[in-house]
Amino acid sequence: MNPNSPRTAICPGSYDPVTNGHLDIIGRSAKMFDRVVVGVVNKPMRKSATLFTAEERKSFIEEATADLGNVEVQIFSDLLVRFAREVDATAVIKGLRAISDFEYEFEMAQLNHKLDPGSESVYVFARSHFSFLSSTGVKEMATFNADISDLVPESVAAALVDRLGRR
Ligand code: PNS
Repeated sequence: MNPNSPRTAICPGSYDPVTNGHLDIIGRSAKMFDRVVVGVVNKPMRKSATLFTAEERKSFIEEATADLGNVEVQIFSDLLVRFAREVDATAVIKGLRAISDFEYEFEMAQLNHKLDPGSESVYVFARSHFSFLSSTGVKEMATFNADISDLVPESVAAALVDRLGRR
């Protein structure tokens, strides 16, 4: 690898929707790499239908990362390792909150390495104040009209209330 070529990382996920915890990982990744591609999965394999479309999820992240010059957002519907090669990524970055994340992420890292032995997974610990935060939790809170204003960007909070909030 040319030491002068820019280093690209991917931050992949469902982001249904993006939370301040995700944005923290993306921002920290943007400090460590020359270019960060946020990959929004358009085909969550084992999961139920998403609340927001891939385009909506992408635009929430674009808006929230507009001040980060080296971050771009792309939708992908392929294997993560193929998408990583497509965008020239040297690393896949994931956030780790608690022990409960470890098992799933360990499996994903092994799977991705099996699919592409050249791929590298990098794990970044979530800051303690985000360690309880998940898209699922935020959706549940929004359903019951709890205050989520410090957990997600403003536009995401509004969209969640609009789609899920009890009237
Ligand atoms: O926990 P998430 O946000 O739903 O994670 C999504 C993703 C793509 C990062 C995770 O499922 C993963 O690492 N998958 C590897 C296997 C793969 O490439 N699957 C196809 C895309 S779902």
